[in-house]
Amino acid sequence: MELSADHLLGIKYITEDDIQLIFETADHFKEVINRPIKKVPSLRDITIANLFFENSTRTRLSFELAEKRLSADVINFSASSSSLQKGETLIDTVNNILSMKVDMVIMRHPNPGAGVFLSKHVDAKIINAGDGAHEHPTQALLDTYSIRERLGDVAGKKVVIVGDILHSRVALSNIFALKKLGAEVKVCGPKTLMPKHIESLGVSYEPSLVKALNWCDVANMLRVQNERMDVSYFPSTREYIQQYGVNKQLLNSLDKEIVLMHPGPINRGVEITSDVADSKQAIILDQVQNGVAVRMAVIYLLAAKINRGEGLQ
Ligand code: CP
Repeated sequence: MELSADHLLGIKYITEDDIQLIFETADHFKEVINRPIKKVPSLRDITIANLFFENSTRTRLSFELAEKRLSADVINFSASSSSLQKGETLIDTVNNILSMKVDMVIMRHPNPGAGVFLSKHVDAKIINAGDGAHEHPTQALLDTYSIRERLGDVAGKKVVIVGDILHSRVALSNIFALKKLGAEVKVCGPKTLMPKHIESLGVSYEPSLVKALNWCDVANMLRVQNERMDVSYFPSTREYIQQYGVNKQLLNSLDKEIVLMHPGPINRGVEITSDVADSKQAIILDQVQNGVAVRMAVIYLLAAKINRGEGLQ
């Protein structure tokens, strides 16, 4: 089995079968990274460049660890310390890096579509590690993988995505992944933070957090992305917390125990209180742990599509 796509540019561009193949491959790598020796030699002939034009903690470290666990050679690029500051274009930057015989590029970029653009202009496998407010495909894969791990399956589960949907690449990629895997999806948050025509993606809008939480099996709490807002989208943070923040009292008032997720970084005390974030209902650190296995799977499966002469070992 191989992936239907040559790059991972978004969940929109891959199939349900691709996602299931990534999950099955991640199951294997999850077992590998829990062994005393956490490495396999699969990609020792592959060189990967991590190009981060935007800040990241989890995604960047997780990709780097995944690459090293697969024995790939890794180079790291950070926009703030690069010649971009001297006016170099994205294509020139990437082509210079590729001339050093790089096979795969992992890129985070503030511009939506940057990964798609790059894939049309350079001869390397591209993985989108987040492009503006567009997509963050590996986050959605690790999120849905974590739901599958906790609840046995994604199909038929009720998932609500809460908060700043408008500015969230995590929301869009999660909606695509959850729908492809057969989940029911609602979005919840201030109307001002909902994209127009969100229902066209097959999700419904629920303005009441209490109703949304009483409906769902899983709530994915998103961060309010202040850095992407040039105007105020709600009256005050205090009011946001009152209407859309999850605390222990609210959770205890529900009829059932739901699973709580957060892609990080968390604004503790805003979208979720610390006691909830650190409770056993929250699978936030499972998501981070699963991110390494899922990213190993994506990298491994895309590397299998590179013509390497001798094939994978
Ligand atoms: N979830 C996520 O993308 O986190 P980082 O911005 O730290 O990579």
